[in-house]
Amino acid sequence: MADYLDYKFEDNQGFIDTYDELPLWSAAFGLLLFRHLELKPNLTVIDLGSGTGFPLLELAGRLGKSCKLYGIDPWKNAHKRANKKIKNYGLDNVEMINSTAEQIPFGDNSIDLIVSNLGINNFENPPVVFRECHRVLKPKGKLVLTTNLNGHWKEFYNIFEATLRQLRREKIAETLISHQEHRGTIQSITKLFTDNGLAVTRYFEDNFEMKFLDGSAFLNHYFVKLGWLSSWKSLLPEEEIPDIFSALEQNLNSHSLKSGGLKLTVPMAYVEGEKE
Ligand SMILES: C[S@@+](CC[C@H](N)C(=O)[O-])C[C@H]1O[C@@H](n2cnc3c(N)ncnc32)[C@H](O)[C@@H]1O
Repeated sequence: MADYLDYKFEDNQGFIDTYDELPLWSAAFGLLLFRHLELKPNLTVIDLGSGTGFPLLELAGRLGKSCKLYGIDPWKNAHKRANKKIKNYGLDNVEMINSTAEQIPFGDNSIDLIVSNLGINNFENPPVVFRECHRVLKPKGKLVLTTNLNGHWKEFYNIFEATLRQLRREKIAETLISHQEHRGTIQSITKLFTDNGLAVTRYFEDNFEMKFLDGSAFLNHYFVKLGWLSSWKSLLPEEEIPDIFSALEQNLNSHSLKSGGLKLTVPMAYVEGEKE
């Protein structure tokens, strides 16, 4: 069995010590966020899904002392690391709060700006999160999201689907298609804003490419193991995982040989809404 199939995420101090809070993945979305976000003085700001501190701490540094920022995330070990950085960077305008985006521990009409970099695909209940954002935002307050869109890594998913069909696992291929569709489109994200009293004031679409030598490099990459592997495995019957991944890896490798590498497209969006 391939080594990567044994990978286990361990949420402990040893892991968090080497956790990369700004992999090139998050960085691409962060650059999109900072390219378009308007900076203003005297703001009260929340970062939803702030993890170990990105983009929260960068934003705290860029906004400076007239603004107060809060990071909301239920991941306790991430807070420990973010708090160490807050202390070592000498930031006095930012605090971590252990909660979820579905339960924002602030009063009604109290927040000027909410940002979330790569949060929305991780929230259990996006409509509840949008209602909660609407509740805590002041009138004219803003919610700004950056996220990957439907079509993310389509080259990989097409080969995964073809592999499942080649192995006559049609039902799993259909499940894989629905798994991909949980990612939003500009239309579905815009609808979440407007259905919850937030007028979309600006949005920008962009994309970038991630290139790997081949499927073996891709499947063994630490960030792929950390962020995606378990969700792909969960779509497959346990006993078939080694065989399906072996066929998938071979197919990805032959595609890479023919195409000069495994090039994966990441469509992304910046969406900004305002409380009406
Ligand atoms: C893909 S990471 C993004 C982290 C960081 N913002 C970045 O740009 O890299 C998603 C984050 O959302 C957090 N998260 C998951 N469910 C959440 C929820 N219901 N409310 C708030 N944060 C949540 C996770 O703990 C994780 O830190």
